[in-house]
Amino acid sequence: MESCITIREQTRLYVGPVKELVESVVPKCRVVVITDANIDRLYPDLVRRYEHIIIGGGEANKSLVTVATIYDRLMKMGADRSTFILGIGGGIVTDISGFVAATYMRGLDFGFISTTLLGQVDASIGGKNGVNVADYKNMVGTIVHPRFVISDVEMLRTLSERELRAGMAEVVKSAIIGDAELFDYIERWAADTLYHSSEQMRNIVLRAVRVKAAIVEADERERGLRRLLNLGHTIGHAIEKSTRAVNHGEAVAMGLVAIAKAAAKEGMLPERDAERIASVVRALGLSIEPPVPVTAIMRAVRYDKKRQDNILRVVIPEAIGRCVVREMSLECFENMFK
Ligand SMILES: NC(=O)c1ccc[n+]([C@@H]2O[C@H](COP(=O)([O-])OP(=O)(O)OC[C@H]3O[C@@H](n4cnc5c(N)ncnc54)[C@H](O)[C@@H]3O)[C@@H](O)[C@H]2O)c1
Repeated sequence: MESCITIREQTRLYVGPVKELVESVVPKCRVVVITDANIDRLYPDLVRRYEHIIIGGGEANKSLVTVATIYDRLMKMGADRSTFILGIGGGIVTDISGFVAATYMRGLDFGFISTTLLGQVDASIGGKNGVNVADYKNMVGTIVHPRFVISDVEMLRTLSERELRAGMAEVVKSAIIGDAELFDYIERWAADTLYHSSEQMRNIVLRAVRVKAAIVEADERERGLRRLLNLGHTIGHAIEKSTRAVNHGEAVAMGLVAIAKAAAKEGMLPERDAERIASVVRALGLSIEPPVPVTAIMRAVRYDKKRQDNILRVVIPEAIGRCVVREMSLECFENMFK
């Protein structure tokens, strides 16, 4: 059984069995798959039924060098405007393949099969794609929506526990932004196994997808509401910048706990809610303490700010299920963590 949510009349987000959905959703024209070696090894039937390009994994490969290599391969294959790009993988593959599809020959149609929890609830949704440049994450990119995203929770069974936990951090983020019932649901499961049943995971993915889809529907270009999706990311990105020891989801988890604690200290969030956020993150097996000192985190926040004006837009949780964006100076932000 599948569920389908449509965003901006452009993307159909399917949560259901990949085998059946591929048959009915992927167009019958020429399709070129972009994926990484892990997905090719684990799901060869899916990848090798089409022409395919395998890229290296990891943030270091989310680069213009990889993009240029893919353009080159597409040209040698004779791919043209009628070719359909199918990105199969986690957020790194979908970010790169979306960018390639949006720019090659001024844009090809594309779709995703999203294979990580973080990808299914966040990275594959909303049309943002792009690559890192030098030290800056997602510095170059476009906002172009895929035709469809297929998310099959059965594919998450081959995901490492670490990646599953990292994805749960983004689910917790979505719950704090806009779904208090989802937060209760995760609280109930968190102390149990991470992936209890297909039904449980389907419920989690669907609810988190709905939160993001509703926000993107209302604000595609991040002029207002979409900024809420950055909850926990000011601190999270700074942690990612300061150490390679944690991945994106792990850094976001620490960022969520830090901003909740700071908001409670300032009287903006009930103390009890901040405690619940820290407990759920801990129960999911995620660390709540950054592995770098606050001074290093603030240095990274400041370094990032050098590129923009001096005003930070910080997402503050006011309750579980409700957040606001507050504009504040860097100094004000730093004071929240003292
Ligand atoms: N575009 C957006 O709106 C957006 C939003 C959030 C995050 N992102 C980006 O997403 C990226 C992180 O994505 P991610 O966490 O999915 O990481 P990832 O794409 O690196 O995937 C994590 C690892 O899991 C492997 N993998 C993927 N699916 C698997 C499966 N089903 N079974 C076994 N292994 C599997 C991959 O090969 C990889 O080694 C970051 O670059 C981040 O900036 C983008």
